Amino acid sequence: MIIIKTPPQIQGIRQSSKLAAVTLKYLSQFVKPGISTQKLNKLAHQFIVKHNAIPAPLNYGGFPKSICTSVNNVVCHGIPSEKAILKEGDIINLDITTILDGFYGDVSATFPVGQISASSQLLIDQTRQALNLAITAIKPGKYLNEVVGKVIEDFVTPQGFSPVRELGGHGVGLKFHEDPFVFHFNTSQNHLLLKPGMIFTVEPMINASLNWRVNIDPSDGWTVRTTDGALSCQFEHTILITDNGCEVLTKL
Ligand code: MF3
Ligand code: CO
Ligand code: CO
Repeated sequence: MIIIKTPPQIQGIRQSSKLAAVTLKYLSQFVKPGISTQKLNKLAHQFIVKHNAIPAPLNYGGFPKSICTSVNNVVCHGIPSEKAILKEGDIINLDITTILDGFYGDVSATFPVGQISASSQLLIDQTRQALNLAITAIKPGKYLNEVVGKVIEDFVTPQGFSPVRELGGHGVGLKFHEDPFVFHFNTSQNHLLLKPGMIFTVEPMINASLNWRVNIDPSDGWTVRTTDGALSCQFEHTILITDNGCEVLTKL
C-alpha cells in the first residue's frame, strides 16, 4: 500500500531529508586518502545525534553501523570498518538516512578519493546524470517505470553500463522502507500512476559493465558486490510528487 502523505507529514519528512543532506555534505569534506570508513561512520553518527536525530541504519535488521560506506566494487550496504582505509583512486558512496521527529530522509552520493581515473569519473558523472534525468521527468500523471526505470536504463546502457536489478528505491518517510519498490530499469512491475503526496527514493546503482548481477557477502550478510568485480556507483534522493512535478527533499 502506497501512503499519500499529509501536509504535516510532508513537513516532517522535508526536515529529516534536509538534515540527511546536510550530514552528507558535512561528511564529504573528510573523504581523503588515509581515513577509515569507521571514522566517517563516527563523524556522521555524532553529527546526526547532535542534531537531535537518529541514524536509521543502526540496528536496522541487525545492521551494525550508522551509515553505509560502499567502496569501488561494493554496490551498497558496505559496513564501515576500522580496517577499511580509503586510498587514492577509490570511489566511495556514503548513504545517510536520518530519523528526525519520527520521520525518515534518505540520501546518498558517490565521491572520488583524491585523484581518480577518467573512467571512474565518467561512471560517477553518468550515474549522477541518470538520477537527474529521472528527476526532471517525474510528474504526477506519469507512470513510475517510464520516468525512472526507462529513463535511467536508456541513458546508461549505451555507455556499456548497467542498472542493478535486485535492489531498488523505495517509498520512505513514516518508515525506512515503504511501498513502492522502485526499479531502475524498465519493467511493467513499476506500471504505477504517480500522484501528489507520494514520497519515494530514486537511487540508481550503476555497474561499470553490462553485467548487472550482484551478490551478498555471506560472511557479513550485508555487503553487496558486483559479481564481475566491476566498479559500481550510486546517487540517491528522496522525492516528493507535487501538483506539477516533484520536489527533491534531500537537495540543499
Ligand atoms: N539507505 C539504504 C537505502 O537507500 C538502506 C540501508 S539499509 C542498512 O535504502 F541497513 F544497510 F542500513
Ligand atoms: Co539510502
Ligand atoms: Co534508500
